[in-house]
Parts: sequence; C-alpha cells; structure tokens
Amino acid sequence: MCGIVGIVGGRDVAPVILEALKRLEYRGYDSAGIATLDDGQLTRRRAEGKLFNLETALTAQPLHGGLGIGHTRWATHGAPTENNAHPHATDRAAIVHNGIIENFRELRQMLLEKGFSFSTDTDSEIIAHLVTDHLNRGKDPRRAAADALRELEGAFAVAIIFSGEEDLMIGARRGSPLAVGYGDGSMYLGSDAFALAPMTNRVSFLEEGDRVELTREGAVIYDAAGRNVERTVKITDVSAALVDKGNHRHFMAKEIFEQPEVIGHTLSEYLDLVNEKLHLPDLPVDLATVPRITIIACGTAFYAGLVAKYWFEKLARISVEVDIASEFRYREAALPEGGLAIFISQSGETADTLAALHYCKSRGQKTLSVVNVVESSIARASDVILPTFAGPEIGVASTKAFTCQLSTLAILAVRAAIARGQIDAEEERRIVHTLIETPRHVAEALGADGAIQDLSVDLAKARDVLYLGRGHNYPVALEGALKLKEISYIHAEGYAAGELKHGPIALIDENVPVIVIAPMDPLYEKTVSNMQEVIARGGKVLLIADKAGIEHAGEGLWESVEIPAVDPLIAPIINAIPVQLLAYHTAVSKGTDVDQPRNLAKSVTVE
Ligand code: AGP
Repeated sequence: MCGIVGIVGGRDVAPVILEALKRLEYRGYDSAGIATLDDGQLTRRRAEGKLFNLETALTAQPLHGGLGIGHTRWATHGAPTENNAHPHATDRAAIVHNGIIENFRELRQMLLEKGFSFSTDTDSEIIAHLVTDHLNRGKDPRRAAADALRELEGAFAVAIIFSGEEDLMIGARRGSPLAVGYGDGSMYLGSDAFALAPMTNRVSFLEEGDRVELTREGAVIYDAAGRNVERTVKITDVSAALVDKGNHRHFMAKEIFEQPEVIGHTLSEYLDLVNEKLHLPDLPVDLATVPRITIIACGTAFYAGLVAKYWFEKLARISVEVDIASEFRYREAALPEGGLAIFISQSGETADTLAALHYCKSRGQKTLSVVNVVESSIARASDVILPTFAGPEIGVASTKAFTCQLSTLAILAVRAAIARGQIDAEEERRIVHTLIETPRHVAEALGADGAIQDLSVDLAKARDVLYLGRGHNYPVALEGALKLKEISYIHAEGYAAGELKHGPIALIDENVPVIVIAPMDPLYEKTVSNMQEVIARGGKVLLIADKAGIEHAGEGLWESVEIPAVDPLIAPIINAIPVQLLAYHTAVSKGTDVDQPRNLAKSVTVE
C-alpha cells in the first residue's frame, strides 16, 4: 500500500516528512519522494528504492520550506522508477495519491487535447494536471482542488499543495484512509495515525468522501455533499507497534474498512490501466493447454479457491478440483501430467497447505501460490507467486486478505480464458473497467455498516445460524458462516441453497436466523424460492441483495441488507463485505475477543 504524509507548518518540513515516511515503510513500497514549497516554488526530490536513497538525495540537495507532502509508492502500473515516483507536479500544483482513478484515461485524453503533456503512464499524474487546469481557468486553489476532485472517479486518498500558497494543503479521502493531525502552529495529513505519531497524537480521521483544507491554524472539513462538518479529534495511543487500529476498536474493523484501498492496490498490480489489459508475470504453465487446475488451501483461503473454481470453469472452461489441504495431503490424489496446482494462503506458513505443495511438486505439478507474505515458506517453495497486496493482516479472522485473494484469482481466471480464446480483446477491456470499479463498489457495500450493526444485536442472541447461497455465492455463504462462528462462537453453517431441502431444512424454526445471499443474478429466482421455503416454516430470513433483489423477494423477510448491483464477475468480492460486517458486529455485541478469538491462531503452522 502507498503511504501519504503532509505538513503545513513553520520550519523546514522535509526532514520531518522523511521520518514520518519511515513509519509507513511497513506498508511496502519501492520508491518515494517529497515536494515542498521552497521560496514560493514547488520543488521535488524523488528516488527509486528504499528511503535511504531519498535521504541521500535530500542530503545532497536539501529541500527547504514549511509546507510539504511526501509519499511511499508501491509500483502498480508503471515501473518503480524515480520518474513514476510521487509527488507528481506541474509548476502550479504538486500531489501525492493512493488508490485508483477509474476514469483517468478519459481525463488524460481531455487534458492532452487542452495541451497538457504527461511524463509518466501513471493514473496519479493526471490529478496534478487536472488541478492545474482548474487553476488556469482562474479559480482559487480551494475551488480548483474541489472542482478537480469532483471530476475524479474511483477509490483514493490524495494530498495537494500549490505554488505561491505557503499556508494551504488540501486532502481528500474516497475509499482510502486519510488522517488529519493537529499540532500547535502546524497541521498534518497521514495515511494512518502511526505516521503522525512523532508530530502529534491529536488526530481525526476523514470519513468517506471528505475533503479537508489545512492551514497552520487548523482544518476545515467538507463532507461528500460539500457541507462543512466536524470530525472528532481523538488522542491516539499509538504504541511502538508496527501498525495501529486507526480510529477502529479492533484490527478486524480496520482491516474490513481498508478493503477498498488494498483491493485497489492488488488489482493495480495486475492491470495495465493505460492499455486496458491484464498484466501478469510469466506463469509456469501454458494456460491454453494446461489439463487441469488443482486448488488447495485451508479455511477462508479455501473458500476463495471455491469461488475461483466457478470462475475458471465458467470463463476459461478449465477443469478445476478444489480441496482442503489437510485432506488433500493424505489422499494420494491422482494428478494429471503437466497440471497446475494453485495454493492460496494469507500467511504463507500454513503447515497443511505447505505439505500439500510439496506433495504436488513431488508429483510433477507446476505450482503457483497466491500469498500475502511474499517471503513466506509457501511463497519460497512455489514456482511462481501472485502476491496479494492486503498489507499486514493482524486480526485472526481473515477479511481483506480474502477479498484480495479473490481479486487476484479473478484476474488469473480471466487470463486463462484469454489464453483459451474464450475472451477477446474487447471483452478484456470491459473486464478491466469492471475490475477497476471494484474498490468503489466495496466502499459502497461498507455503507451498510450502521444497518448491520443495528441488526447484529438480534443476531447475537441466536444459537444456530444458517447461511445460504447459490453458484459463486455458495462459497461466500461458507465464508460468512466461518466468520460468524470463529469470532462470535455462535454455531453457523453455510449451505448451497438448493441443498436445504435435502435435510438441513429440518433445522428451521423461528429461533434459527437464515442469512441468504441472493443478488439479482441468473440464480436469483431459484434462491428466492428456497428462501420462501424457509419463511413458510417460520424461519427468520435476512436477505443480502441488491435493490432489485430486495424488491422482488416477496413477503416475510426478517431483515434485508442492500449491496450495490455489480457485474457478476466481482459480485463474490462485494458480497463478502456484509457477511464480514455481520460477523464483526455480532461478535462485538457478544463481547468476545474479536481480534484474538479463543482457541485460534493467525497462522496454523502445525498439523
Ligand atoms: C480465517 O478467518 C481463519 N482465520 C482461517 O480459516 C485461515 O483462513 C486459515 O487458517 C488459512 O490461513 P492462511 O490463509 O494463512 O493459509
């Protein structure tokens, strides 16, 4: 994940920004930069690689000025070069950015036609030119920034400074977190409270859609509707711990709300936004001819594999077998010559998954791992890895890693479909656009947080809960049940909705809440009739669906949670959000240890 720091203060800020950037190194990066307003002029120092290189450049050519912004960049599209490093700038504005600008191609074309020229292929650079375009139309910096931000689509955080404006910095948050730090005669922006800790422990966290105007004297915050609002200033107790909870009670909550940012980061790694194509490393097999894919994982990662099976088989027409590692490693599975084995693991250290990987290698399979820890044992043992860019996941219950695994696997399945002639260049372009909208839709799904918190109070009283889904929502039902049981200790089971009448419907009565995941898709009618079977027997049904799905569900729902209507390809990612929130708030209602549930470990490194 990229990191942002900004200071509007009194004395030279570059050294202070550099120290704050060091506290963001844990997020992962491969280039960095700082811009200050030095004697009225925007001046930058940027460097490829680690912060030591930037520090060396600053020693050789110090930056002066009491206003500045800094950035650590994890290269997504656009190599990790000095030229692609942030801040990006024109002679009138400098910006640092974290996230995806979905409509950057259209904006880039518009700006090119206005005579602007670009020095990078990054989406971020267009923000500096867009702000400049509004300044060139005679707008003051505050208005220019507000109007430019309104033209942007996507999930991002951004900080902006202007030439000639010694006492102004603009920040904005849309899907990626951004915190405001309150000093005495100085004000700060940071990706998290940990970065700001050396300067201040008085922090407020911008909310979705907020824009903030910072001067040395303070902050003026506007919400998404442009209304002047206040955001609570908290005293943070950021310890020396590598990561902090931000303004959340638990790491799990922070990680749930980080998903727009980290999904955007993961997708950017595998999408070439300029050419609207997928961008994957060389793979150990020819996806056009590989005879079968075997997917092996545990727990939540296994459910990601189950979703991927639907994608590989439907999109690429490849035969896929998915198994839990603890069974696979002992069942002497018959594996095809030249097969591909895919391992999914957040930690990359799960003993059963690692053992299964060694079994597959001994049987001549090529191995690919989707991991969140790139220096882990599973990563090192694999022929190739596709990292997820979820950042450190501290909560034992996996959330952001799951949706980043899905994002990565979706891209791999599309890549296989292209290799097998099932998807042409036009469809690939459409899919790329669908994928880059994912962070925004995830942010929309997170908007149901308040409603879910309210209904979780009732759910917390249940002893048994069922989750139902069809197609790629069946694994999401399994994941929802796992989330609930592992952090709230309520017994929960996920079922394929069509399976209910083959036995489980005997469990239904008014004491058993049934969570049905049924957005309006080709399987909706079938799932709704299963749901009506439950209602007819007095079951309490909570329907998770888009607006149309809720409107056509008929009578008798106990509750409903609305999610955005999205392309079926990304639906499993979006539908995971409400089941994560449901489990989280139910566990909080029950008072369990959400981040460290009883009996569980974050990584199961033993059999
Ligand atoms: C997920 O919420 C659980 N904590 C657990 O099922 C986890 O997914 C499983 O242990 C696999 O871990 P891994 O992804 O690190 O291999």
